[in-house]
Amino acid sequence: MTETRANTKKLFIKTYGCQMNVYDSDRMMDALAPHGYETTLDMATADLVLLNTCHIREKASEKVFSELGRLKELQSERRALGGDMMIGVAGCVAQAEGEEIARRAPVVDMVFGPQAYHKLPEMVSRTESTRHLHQALRKPIVDTDFPEEDKFAHLPAARKEVTIKRGLTAFLTVQEGCDKFCSFCVVPYTRGAEVSRPVSQILAEARGLVEAGVKEITLLGQNVNAYHGDDEGRVVGLGELAHRLAEIHGLERLRYTTSHPRDMDDALIAAHRDLDILMPYLHLPVQSGSDSILKAMNRRHTAAEYLKVIETIKTARPDMALSGDFIVGFPGETDQDFEDTLKIIADVGYASAYSFKYSTRPGTPGANLGDQVDEAVKNERLWRLQDLVNAQTTAFHASCVGKTIPVLVERPGRMPGQVGGRSPYLQAVHLDGGAELIGAIHQVEIVGTSTNSLVGRLKVSVAA
Ligand code: 5AD
Ligand code: SF4
Repeated sequence: MTETRANTKKLFIKTYGCQMNVYDSDRMMDALAPHGYETTLDMATADLVLLNTCHIREKASEKVFSELGRLKELQSERRALGGDMMIGVAGCVAQAEGEEIARRAPVVDMVFGPQAYHKLPEMVSRTESTRHLHQALRKPIVDTDFPEEDKFAHLPAARKEVTIKRGLTAFLTVQEGCDKFCSFCVVPYTRGAEVSRPVSQILAEARGLVEAGVKEITLLGQNVNAYHGDDEGRVVGLGELAHRLAEIHGLERLRYTTSHPRDMDDALIAAHRDLDILMPYLHLPVQSGSDSILKAMNRRHTAAEYLKVIETIKTARPDMALSGDFIVGFPGETDQDFEDTLKIIADVGYASAYSFKYSTRPGTPGANLGDQVDEAVKNERLWRLQDLVNAQTTAFHASCVGKTIPVLVERPGRMPGQVGGRSPYLQAVHLDGGAELIGAIHQVEIVGTSTNSLVGRLKVSVAA
């Protein structure tokens, strides 16, 4: 592989699933950039196409195989014109079904899991060097090992030019993998055991982002508040990490996702009380409101314990708003269990929530449970749950009307003479104003709501 940019090659990454995958896709771009790869938005003209897949819910692998079918056609078209296209599958489907993908889709050149991203340049280089061979003679590279060594040690640093393109907000992975083993979830198998990045690495990356103009950072991890990173021989939790990040001059907002209720420790809750930079909006999934389902899910907490955590957080930070994840139709879920879930939603009052029908994930303990819930029942429960959550979201938006809130203005609005940004609660806010407002936090009075967003008016302080 050449180290020069003389012969630029085009890279297209299609990202499925969570923000962690978005972050990983950016890192893959960063890793390949020094080797002459520039990203393109046009898949058909790419020299290398990577599918960064997600395995968390249903039909993940079918989606990948149908996309590979389409890619095979694009590849044939390119070859007919004398060009070529290399194809790789990354992410959690690759981790879970690596050999199967290589066997069923010979069009694929590389299949590799999230633990192998730092080896991407080498894999691409090996693939490039065998392109001249007939497909039957080429063997796809499959890398789904869980290395002993720390994958974060090899993570390519975010490049400034990429960061600028990303704008005012950025993700930063601080932790990966999970040791909780909820019985429905593939993450402990696809992402592996929990690993935290050292504090110094995170601070360096955060400083680089802020220097490049980023004002808001979202710390990512599958179980982010289990963070326990090394700080020169001492173990530091997420609360202390937030304090360290808050010292970075120019960083104005900090968020983190996704958290487990059991890991909301005192230091993290106190950080919400003490740090203005930590946004008062927390994604804290409970999954179900029924104690027997929570037990079967191996969540290791009860509904009452979850509510207690929320009460403590709200005492520390009274303006805290919550979002959550819910699964309906977990094996054995009765009508009463589902009513308990509606009850916990009513008790908490969410600003927003994601909800899913349970789907069996091969290899998880949940896959061996009998007493599956009928699909029609799952559908009906999902609709009822989503109706309730939608009503709560609408009520939350309405409760903002009349208040003045800080809005990070990020971009031109949909209409000329308008700009758009985000509230502390991640709501989209539109207001009248010029491009000079972009890039800073402004006080905005909320004067109305429209579907999924707020309408604001810039608050101009009048000198006395
Ligand atoms: N079925 C349905 N939803 C699931 N989730 C994770 N695994 C499953 C599954 N097998 C949901 C959970 C989790 C979110 C990221 O995806 O609600 O919090
Ligand atoms: Fe999956 Fe989250 Fe449970 Fe970990 S805590 S097993 S990532 S649902």
